[in-house]
Amino acid sequence: MSQSIKRIAVLTSGGDAPGLNGVIRALVKSAVLDHGWEVFGIEDGFEGLIGTPRVRKLGLSDVRGLLGRGGTILGSTNKGNFGTKIVDGTLQRNDAVYEEFKQRTHELGIDAVVVLGGDGSQSISQDLFSIGVPVVGVPKTIDNDLVGTDQTFGFDTALGVATDALDRLHTTAESHDRLMVLEVMGRHAGWIALHAGLAGGADAILIPEIPYDLQVVADKVRKRDQVGSLFSIVVVAEGAMPAGGAATYQREGLLGGIGVAVAAELGQLTGKDSRAVVLGHLQRGGSPTPLDRILASRYGVGAVWAISQGRFGQLVALQNDLLTTVPLHECANRVKQVPVDGQLVRTARSLGIVFGDPATPPADTTATAA
Ligand code: F6P
Repeated sequence: MSQSIKRIAVLTSGGDAPGLNGVIRALVKSAVLDHGWEVFGIEDGFEGLIGTPRVRKLGLSDVRGLLGRGGTILGSTNKGNFGTKIVDGTLQRNDAVYEEFKQRTHELGIDAVVVLGGDGSQSISQDLFSIGVPVVGVPKTIDNDLVGTDQTFGFDTALGVATDALDRLHTTAESHDRLMVLEVMGRHAGWIALHAGLAGGADAILIPEIPYDLQVVADKVRKRDQVGSLFSIVVVAEGAMPAGGAATYQREGLLGGIGVAVAAELGQLTGKDSRAVVLGHLQRGGSPTPLDRILASRYGVGAVWAISQGRFGQLVALQNDLLTTVPLHECANRVKQVPVDGQLVRTARSLGIVFGDPATPPADTTATAA
């Protein structure tokens, strides 16, 4: 199969994640050193092949020093022209840009396209594959919510930033007997909030998977006060919502503001001085952790391996610490949520962390997988 491959291309799509450059570096190295292929970088996501193509050749010297660099040297856009729009009440996509993308790959002699992207981007990959573009996906998002893979690159770095923030909030909260609320990213899944809450010793974790009642959190805060722990730390995922309520948006399509709302309400319920901190894009920026650098390297090499095997229409995935591939259509446009009765949630409950729901299942942390 690999004999027919001469030139491959790579693009980065959607929100950036620490490790993107590490994947590009590994992909170029493996493509050149293992196979002698040529690599083109497509700029600004899928948009880079629309209109005048924005592509550049990536050789070994172009990827030198990229392993620890945050962001993406190729630039990224969200779905742009490739997104679906509601026309006359139905969801429609602009087929012409998909055909244009395919046509450009032919003109440029590109034998395979590697897409570094999250669930939305991989649904575009799947649609491109369905019209004949040889695509391989690589799972990217700090949210760690992609179906089919155990871990996305970028998550560990975001987790480190969030945990560091919680450590810092602890010392200032304790100094002032305050209630501190940290809002972290996580649109539909609370992986960052859950992991950071555990690693950073939070008293309450609010995630999209478990609708909350702030009375439960307020009770927890009061109990802490009664035993002399006069400060409390709450971590809330941006997509968390009250039971029977909805998520909080800054403006249409842009989540945000839940931290401030939770801090204000908890302040009223408990009478405590409360503050909110929104961590935002600090979680996405900067240098990847060692774990994310290794993961990025594995995914980059894995993408080249997948191409050499002709595994198009597939997502490179990490399962039980082994790289494999899974069909894109099984992962695209789906979200891997935190299992509400999983081992991690149970562990947190056993540590006295509340999730804002009244339920307190038995503390058998071994009963179900995380
Ligand atoms: O998908 C990752 C993510 O970080 C989400 O958690 C967040 O809602 C979103 O990106 C924000 O992206 P942007 O500000 O780039 O639109």
